[in-house]
Amino acid sequence: MNSETKTDAAVYPPSADFAASAHVDADRYAELYKASIEDPEGFWAEEAKRIDWIKPFSTVKDVNFDLGNVSIKWFEEGTLNVAANCIDRHLETRGDQTAIIWEPDEPNDEAQHITYRQLHRSVCKMANILEDMGVRKGDRVVIYLPMIPEAAYAMLACARIGAIHSVVFAGFSPDALGARINGCDAKVVITADFAPRGGKKTALKSNTDKALLHCKDTVKCLMVRRTGEQTTWVDGRDHDYNELAIEADDHSAPVEVGAEDPLFILYTSGSTGQPKGVVHSSGGYLVYTAMTHQMTFDYHEGDIYWCGADVGWVTGHSYILYGPLANGATTLMFEGVPTYPDAGRFWQIVAKHGVNQFYTAPTALRALMGQGNEWVEKHDLSSLKVLGTVGEPINPEAWNWYYKVVGKEKCPIVDTWWQTETGGHLLTPLPGATPLKPGSATKPFFGVQPVVLDPHTGQEIAETKAEGVLCLKDSWPAQMRTVWGDHERFEKTYFSDYKGYYFSGDGCRRDADGDYWITGRVDDVINVSGHRMGTAEIESALVAHEKVAEAAVVGYPHEIKGQGIYAYVTLMSGQEPSEDLRKELEQFVRSEIGPIAKPDLIQWAPGLPKTRSGKIMRRILRKIAEDDYGSLGDTSTLADPSVVDDLIEHRMNRK
Ligand code: WT7
Repeated sequence: MNSETKTDAAVYPPSADFAASAHVDADRYAELYKASIEDPEGFWAEEAKRIDWIKPFSTVKDVNFDLGNVSIKWFEEGTLNVAANCIDRHLETRGDQTAIIWEPDEPNDEAQHITYRQLHRSVCKMANILEDMGVRKGDRVVIYLPMIPEAAYAMLACARIGAIHSVVFAGFSPDALGARINGCDAKVVITADFAPRGGKKTALKSNTDKALLHCKDTVKCLMVRRTGEQTTWVDGRDHDYNELAIEADDHSAPVEVGAEDPLFILYTSGSTGQPKGVVHSSGGYLVYTAMTHQMTFDYHEGDIYWCGADVGWVTGHSYILYGPLANGATTLMFEGVPTYPDAGRFWQIVAKHGVNQFYTAPTALRALMGQGNEWVEKHDLSSLKVLGTVGEPINPEAWNWYYKVVGKEKCPIVDTWWQTETGGHLLTPLPGATPLKPGSATKPFFGVQPVVLDPHTGQEIAETKAEGVLCLKDSWPAQMRTVWGDHERFEKTYFSDYKGYYFSGDGCRRDADGDYWITGRVDDVINVSGHRMGTAEIESALVAHEKVAEAAVVGYPHEIKGQGIYAYVTLMSGQEPSEDLRKELEQFVRSEIGPIAKPDLIQWAPGLPKTRSGKIMRRILRKIAEDDYGSLGDTSTLADPSVVDDLIEHRMNRK
């Protein structure tokens, strides 16, 4: 298809200047990658020195991917404490350095600069409060907090006492929260009175009260005061963090845990069924997130690093908290949203704090791109050195906008492909080493062995140029270890379709240079008249049109073609839908990809149904496209459930 040749054509090699001071340049990447594959044990034994072990490990790796016997273990017999690695060991050298910059929702409220020493005190206090509430090593604690420093304290306090945290995004409903508290049988839930975000407020304590109606009555609640407003209170069950923290001891001995002891559980949705509790380890996870944070973002001593995700997602775990703090970095935490009070907020924060590395999602970029360049241009972004994206394939238009308008063509863009399940980056450019291609996650990280399998035969495609499903041939230290309470489901989900491999659920293409292009979840692949097509490819074509802000494409049953192409299109602000524009877009996609990709139906969508992490809920779009909106399932986790009503009302395919 001609889009392939077009997008493959643009290549941006690293500048000599950047490469000269980078942790990894092209030669080093080649050399280290080779070593990591030829001698994984030697390679990872060396990398494991990044963290402080209490007792050394004796086995580097003990992994079996065979269905029925799947077992993943790294650094066995080694013991450590994750919080001590993220805090205590930095106290001597950087006790007064800022660990966390906290930027509140309201730009006029004061930001906080929390030093490593202050972080240590607060985490110790929280650890003692939790212990007083009865939490012990191995117990589960659910964290349902806004993006406030106490979220970091809570996670690290759990790690300090060897408890397993399960963070639930503050946008989730009481039902979802309750299901997760029950799912991991938590002893304590930590919440706040309210969560301010984008000028609005969510009543977290009241949500928690509702959730707890469906939980064991032994579950206790620890509440942080964020706004100080009145809340309900259940004596005996509810505990006041701010009050307890005044008296709590600010010393707490870090508890020794095994490398394979779980650090956290994070619930994530699969393509079907109930959310799975993804379980991550302590040792391997920390080694891998520390290493990827340093190398992918080329983080250097003194840099100000900002990942705009929420701690409710794995990105927040690995790249706001654990990776950066293990490296002694300064990490920024932002309570708000990119468009509040205006579309310049991200860039205002970058300028205000002198951010050097910035990491966000393509969906945020597309939203901001639609608002015009002036929001970017009025802020001084000269501190930026590296820009990152994660979460979905980035369309070349958004990539180019990020590269040119935000990065002024001097900041490499790292398009990081990974998953909740992988714990850290698996495919990503390294900014001083890898030639960039807009839309490609490029090359594997050290120790990562991606393979492209033929989905029908399950065989590895040996040729460099390949298209198929993306699997991983061997383990990496941050791989998830199991599904909480259901190891069988773990094996079935990831190791049963393609025997002997970890199956990512993504489709991909590998080009002649060996660069990987994620084509989207394989369940999003549609088949039109016998042609396989990535919905992402058509979306990319649609958003390439100057009047289109965002697009989502799904398949729907079509009498002649098998599946037809149904496109939901959100126009740039100020653009009006019209029949002429519809024809123009159809024609545009025909010319971008080919006649086969021309949408059969285009629906003008004022908004798309997204989860609060910005992922488009295709399940819902497919149902509406199939005129089967009576069985939409649970829409409570959507950022804005009302968009669904509009989509149903104006649906195009009425049977
Ligand atoms: C799925 C994982 C990893 C943190 C955020 C999402 C898609 C993720 C990319 C990328 C293309 C991407 C994949 C993957 N994805 N990053 N750079 N390019 N697709 O975590 O919710 O577990 O989702 O997100 O489809 O399987 P997640």
